[in-house]
Amino acid sequence: MLLASLLVPAIFCANTASGAYVVPVADGSGGWADALAKAKALVSQMTLEEKLNITQQNNDFPRVGEVNRLGYTGLFYADGAEGVRGAPYSSAFPMALNGAGSFDRDLMYRRAVAIGQEARAKGINVQFGPGVNILRSPGAGRAFKYNGADPYLSGQAAAEHVKGVQSQGVMSTMRHYIGNEQETGRRWTSSNIDDRTAHEVYIWPFQDAVHAGVASTMCAYNGVNGSYACSNPTSLGKWLHEELKFQGWVMSDFGAIVQGQEVNSANAGTDTVIGATFTAYTDDFVQGFVYPFGPDSVLASAVANGTVSESRIDDMAHRIVSAWYKLGQDKEYPKLNTSVNALSQEHNDLIREIGSKSIVLLKNDDLLPLSGTQSLYVFGQAASVDLYGAPYPVSFAFSPDQDMGTFLGGQGSSYVTAPYAITLFQALQSHARAHSTQVFGYFDNFNHTNQAAYAAIANTAGAACLVDVRHTCSEGYDRENLTASWEGDETILSVASQCSNTAVIYSSCGPFNVSSWSDHPNVTAILDAGGLGQEAGNSLVDVLFGVVNPSARLPYTIAHKLEDYPALPDFEIQPLNTSFQDVEYTEGLFVDYRWFDKNGIEPAFEFGFGLSYTTFNYSNLNIQSSTANLNQYAPANSTELYDCLALVTIDVCNSGNLAGSEIPQLYIGSPADGAPIKALRGFDTVGLDVRAKKKVEFQLTRRDLSFWDTYNAGWTLPDGEYKVYVGASSRDIRETGTFSLLH
Ligand SMILES: *[C@@H]1O[C@H](CO)[C@@H](O)[C@H](O)[C@H]1NC(C)=O
Ligand SMILES: *[C@@H]1O[C@H](CO)[C@@H](O)[C@H](O)[C@H]1NC(C)=O
Ligand SMILES: *[C@@H]1O[C@H](CO)[C@@H](O)[C@H](O)[C@H]1NC(C)=O
Ligand SMILES: *[C@@H]1O[C@H](CO)[C@@H](O)[C@H](O)[C@H]1NC(C)=O
Ligand SMILES: *[C@@H]1O[C@H](CO)[C@@H](O)[C@H](O)[C@H]1NC(C)=O
Ligand SMILES: *[C@@H]1O[C@H](CO)[C@@H](O)[C@H](O)[C@H]1NC(C)=O
Ligand SMILES: *[C@@H]1O[C@H](CO)[C@@H](O)[C@H](O)[C@H]1NC(C)=O
Ligand SMILES: *[C@@H]1O[C@H](CO)[C@@H](O)[C@H](O)[C@H]1NC(C)=O
Ligand SMILES: *[C@@H]1O[C@H](CO)[C@@H](O)[C@H](O)[C@H]1NC(C)=O
Ligand SMILES: *[C@@H]1O[C@H](CO)[C@@H](O)[C@H](O)[C@H]1NC(C)=O
Ligand SMILES: *[C@@H]1O[C@H](CO)[C@@H](O)[C@H](O)[C@H]1NC(C)=O
Repeated sequence: MLLASLLVPAIFCANTASGAYVVPVADGSGGWADALAKAKALVSQMTLEEKLNITQQNNDFPRVGEVNRLGYTGLFYADGAEGVRGAPYSSAFPMALNGAGSFDRDLMYRRAVAIGQEARAKGINVQFGPGVNILRSPGAGRAFKYNGADPYLSGQAAAEHVKGVQSQGVMSTMRHYIGNEQETGRRWTSSNIDDRTAHEVYIWPFQDAVHAGVASTMCAYNGVNGSYACSNPTSLGKWLHEELKFQGWVMSDFGAIVQGQEVNSANAGTDTVIGATFTAYTDDFVQGFVYPFGPDSVLASAVANGTVSESRIDDMAHRIVSAWYKLGQDKEYPKLNTSVNALSQEHNDLIREIGSKSIVLLKNDDLLPLSGTQSLYVFGQAASVDLYGAPYPVSFAFSPDQDMGTFLGGQGSSYVTAPYAITLFQALQSHARAHSTQVFGYFDNFNHTNQAAYAAIANTAGAACLVDVRHTCSEGYDRENLTASWEGDETILSVASQCSNTAVIYSSCGPFNVSSWSDHPNVTAILDAGGLGQEAGNSLVDVLFGVVNPSARLPYTIAHKLEDYPALPDFEIQPLNTSFQDVEYTEGLFVDYRWFDKNGIEPAFEFGFGLSYTTFNYSNLNIQSSTANLNQYAPANSTELYDCLALVTIDVCNSGNLAGSEIPQLYIGSPADGAPIKALRGFDTVGLDVRAKKKVEFQLTRRDLSFWDTYNAGWTLPDGEYKVYVGASSRDIRETGTFSLLH
């Protein structure tokens, strides 16, 4: 006893005395060995100054340093969650959140391939995305860059995105690692997440991106447990580098290395900085645009006095250069020219397809699909161009006041200036011309008691009304409410009081407030459009007229009341200049639908919900599970986490009168203590002709079936029986079963 109690503090002291945490060096595992060997050979010829030079983005924006004499070109990067940002002639794709809502892996992949093609055409080496933070609170400003509220969905989308972009030889960047779930006070909040929740919810999608071979990681602005994400030895060092064995390079978010954290950041595993130094706990640049890394920096002086070792600098350079080799960028990579025209008809068509396959049909009392011959009355500020005359139908809105025109996607630093944009009204006009019908537009929400329009509607047999509203969203702030802007609700209610066939279309970056009109008897259709990109109007028209049978699902829950959600951003947070403001992730594992299930809260529309113009039935659930005597425990860095331990199959049949696609979803009820009632662990997209039937297969991996065991710090298969739920949403469960594993 005595000996032990003396030893523990002694070891603790020895560790602190010998310096801060130092992240392990890249070891070439997971398929990186060749690239690492080449990188080591090249870096061994670099001087210390050159090595430091390639760890910084200096004034040569947007490039992370080069070493010209050795033929190392450096890395040009571009932001973007909706395409290649900051360059003319780039396509404006639907938001990442729309990609997730398609629940269609192939579409997610093709979206990423196209973005990768545009980046490569312009000579961009590194394309930022996927964003894989979790839509923890409904108004989160950057939610449009993310893949919704569920870690499994987010992880699947992340993997497809990484594979797609990197198939073009372009590096993909997973971000914002980790805990950047709100914009409010993002530089001075600390996201406090318990260990199990961190692993089962927040690290999870990053793990899938690493498994898919992602080349780079962007660390976040915020703190995690009171220590900056970019200098956090637990989240960056232990989780990312030791547990996930990440072999690529870590860059900071723009200016995320704050003054005083240069040494800790380097030692925790940040390899590169983007942007200059900020003062801690504020939104202010250090005067004079100071770079924290580079040949003439705090990092350089830390190397000189030994607080950062030269081997850490070598490892930084190895990681950066090995990613360059891994993606084949040492060979004939296009020279940077952001003016290169990367647009193509093929990409326009793909954008239209992703758009129509990501519009979620939430309600349909026989209004849709519209017949080709109806007269249409179109209302709402989002159906046309900006009434205040912005050059594009979408305004670059850092401010929620600028919420006019067709909504193409989330705003802020990753916003792509669309080369063109099709509004709903334009697309309807083209359709009306082709079908000799009439379409009328009234876009000023403040003129919603428009008696002339209402008289015309009353006198037109079979007239249908469309109301297109929005609530903009952007990096930099969170939405304080989810309600349609510019008196959208009043417009909807006014139109619905006069028009018995009213379809509401809304756009935003996540959940919307539908509570004052979703049950109105004259609101006979509701569409959640998200942000559709440059083909917005055409994608909507394809769904409205049934050219495309909708199949998308909500990647988040739509609640009746704001208070029903487990977490909301704390809008009262102010900088203190001296410490972090805590954001406690008290809901733990119970994010989104898991919270509604646990607390018996009825949502307006649940996670995974979405209608079609046809119907599907499910039959013949079959479960096969491993009969081997399994090891119950697998360490965090185990290579067995993606092994398949159970196989579930089910038949899905199109029982309606129209061809369409169904999205069967598999949820697991784990016997582990404290597990959610249901957690998504599988989904598929099944296209079926009328009366056609197909067997769908879901593979469940060791990680899918394990819980994070904080005591053993690893993944453990729980004792007991697993429940299997297969259905059309998180609440529309069609078949259930159980299985057990031997251990
Ligand atoms: C450092 O990199 C920049 C490009 O980012 C380049 O212009 C400069 O020549 C490099 N300096 C050295 C010493 O290689
Ligand atoms: C944060 O603190 C919780 C509770 O002590 C712990 O479980 C978790 O691992 C910590 N995370 C980090 C990044 O230190
Ligand atoms: C070494 O240099 C770093 C960076 O300038 C500084 O923060 C640290 O205090 C120095 N340490 C010693 C022991 O001189
Ligand atoms: C960049 O691309 C544009 C458009 O193709 C072209 O006009 C221009 O000459 C190119 N610039 C360079 C430096 O190659
Ligand atoms: C309201 O709409 C009517 C019909 O479109 C139009 O004549 C009138 O000028 C509008 N009123 C305002 C205040 O914009
Ligand atoms: C919602 O928030 C916006 C600001 O983002 C504000 O202009 C609007 O009045 C709010 N709406 C409601 C219904 O509170
Ligand atoms: C529905 O629309 C009709 C007009 O077609 C109107 O008479 C009726 O009052 C509306 N219903 C409601 C509840 O507003
Ligand atoms: C919708 O708005 C109403 C009225 O402001 C509010 O009571 C309700 O909580 C809101 N619901 C959501 C999901 O934001
Ligand atoms: C915090 O920093 C800001 C900006 O540098 C300054 O204006 C403010 O007075 C500071 N507040 C405190 C409490 O020191
Ligand atoms: C996992 O980590 C342990 C402890 O650091 C180490 O001994 C082991 O070799 C690692 N296994 C793999 C597969 O990397
Ligand atoms: C599913 O629908 C098909 C086609 O209508 C029908 O033949 C079959 O009996 C249905 N199966 C179930 C289980 O309802």
